[in-house]
Amino acid sequence: MRVSAIIAAAGSGTRLGYAQPKAFVELGNLPLLYYSMRTLRGVADVVEVIVTLPPGKEADARLAAERAGLRVPLKLTQGGAERQDSVRTALALTNAGSSVVVIHDAARPFAAAGLFRACIEAAARSGGAIAAIPVADTLKKSAQSIITATVAREGLYAAQTPQAFIRDLLLAAHACASQAAPATDDACLVERIGGKVEIVPGSTLNFKITTPEDLLVARALAASDQILSGIFD
Ligand code: CTP
Ligand code: MG
Repeated sequence: MRVSAIIAAAGSGTRLGYAQPKAFVELGNLPLLYYSMRTLRGVADVVEVIVTLPPGKEADARLAAERAGLRVPLKLTQGGAERQDSVRTALALTNAGSSVVVIHDAARPFAAAGLFRACIEAAARSGGAIAAIPVADTLKKSAQSIITATVAREGLYAAQTPQAFIRDLLLAAHACASQAAPATDDACLVERIGGKVEIVPGSTLNFKITTPEDLLVARALAASDQILSGIFD
């Protein structure tokens, strides 16, 4: 199977609050983006990697790929205003010979290579597949900090990346995407056109770095060889 991988790395990281765009904030002396590249190196079906970037970050992205030992062609592109715009631009650069496209957020440095493989296999079978974890906390709705309801968590999942899709299905989904209601993940666009999307068990380690607290946790984890070997293998 031929697979194109897209790494979404064009965000500015407003909630993290660094001067540097989030994908280039360092974790163990390496930019966040490095970790996804290093993991993709171990996913045999991946024939190319396309990265969406903030302005002026091409050289830094190439250096990260070199340090990660990425052996497949690397394509770089400027991101758009919203995540879905960035992914659409990257998708247009994917090789038409790829049957599956897998998308991953650079903001999730601890996605295991095995999770990528599982999503790719499930997408080839079902059309689409995403990593997700069952919601563990009790869910409350509130208005002005006062609880208005408890939401049953049965059947609720927190969506992660990687997310993989048959290339033609993802192209069709992005062609129908609306600028008025941008989607925060690709599965949402595929769902809107009636595509089938399978859930693959994700991991709590595969959290998204959003806030300064998340980065503190990530820096502690990145110092552990045990964690890193579990991800890159
Ligand atoms: N992303 C992107 N293009 C955008 C917005 C986001 O490629 N226009 C990427 C980010 O780089 C990130 C992923 O999508 O890896 C998930 O987005 P998020 O965690 O929201 O990152 P940011 O948008 O950078 O953060 P914030 O929303 O706090 O500004
Ligand atoms: Mg964002």
